[in-house]
Amino acid sequence: MTGTGTGTAVADARAAAGGGEILCRGLVRVFATDGIEVQALQGLDLGVGPSELVAVVGASGSGKSTLLNVLSGMDTPTAGSAVVAGTDLLAMGAHQRVRFRRTTVGFVWQQTARNLLPYLTAAENVLLPLEVAGAVPRSRRAARVRELLELLGVADVADRRPGRMSGGQQQRVAIAVAVANGPRVLLADEPTGELDEAASVDVLEALRGVNAETGVTTLLVTHDPAVAEHVARTVQIRDGRTSTEVLRREEVDEHGATRHVAEEFAVLDRVGRLQLSADFVAALDLRDRVRLALEPDRVEVRPDRAGPGGTEGGR
Ligand SMILES: Nc1ncnc2c1ncn2[C@@H]1O[C@H](COP(=O)(O)OP(=O)(O)OP(=O)(O)O)[C@@H](O)[C@H]1O
Ligand SMILES: [Mg+2]
Repeated sequence: MTGTGTGTAVADARAAAGGGEILCRGLVRVFATDGIEVQALQGLDLGVGPSELVAVVGASGSGKSTLLNVLSGMDTPTAGSAVVAGTDLLAMGAHQRVRFRRTTVGFVWQQTARNLLPYLTAAENVLLPLEVAGAVPRSRRAARVRELLELLGVADVADRRPGRMSGGQQQRVAIAVAVANGPRVLLADEPTGELDEAASVDVLEALRGVNAETGVTTLLVTHDPAVAEHVARTVQIRDGRTSTEVLRREEVDEHGATRHVAEEFAVLDRVGRLQLSADFVAALDLRDRVRLALEPDRVEVRPDRAGPGGTEGGR
């Protein structure tokens, strides 16, 4: 059995991801309904460092929400290990789970209506988690609410109920609610899914601002590849596994001009598996099995043209 939540699993996962705030190793989530099994996560590896802002991008059905449900403590994985802010999610008891969801992680849903209570104003919505957790003294709560609404650029709608705010304003208030108790990790599932382009940019910039200002480790998932332009690191998820990563950085050229550089990497899991992109596979008509050769500085992958045409079990 893998990842039964022993101290070793935590130590292994932590070592593998360089001591990160979010560490997933071989994460598996199988849903069984009416005798049919769906493998939503198929051995996913992911490490996110403290105060990092990372976007996980993937098509519909690739396992993004399943991953966030696991990381937020709302769902339990079938196998593998997941450690968030030092908490082993597979070993957590009921009490620990409540505390984890109340104070360790903050969550923003795609459906704007799901994040806020419709009969409370923006300020009252942000105040609510402060009252539930009780970590901020009563006398400082009003100031904290004001600070959060200002940080998210929505102080002007403090006295409005969600019905009288735009979708983008609602999502920014939702971010304020999610970080009210100073969580170590902020998780957002398609936070811009219901917004137009301009409002999406506002919300992404708000997330970036909160991440920079408070240092909260932030993971957002989306099907929108355009999000990648707003974050330094994007991880691609395909069929329940992380497949590639794009890192963006600024580089100053010899003339002193700044340019943005994006580099794509394949993700290599701990047993040496990686996925070839569909473009590469198509370009060389790779199928069934390939030839690998180790060169001093690279590994070559070549088609098996001379093969006998056997196609069974070629993975
Ligand atoms: N509770 C469940 N019961 C059965 N199957 C499920 C359940 N939740 C998710 N799945 C299946 O698991 C797979 C991954 O679903 P998931 O919701 O994580 O995808 P997603 O990447 O979030 O997709 P979307 O972009 O559409 O939100 C899908 O095939 C989905 O049908
Ligand atoms: Mg989803």
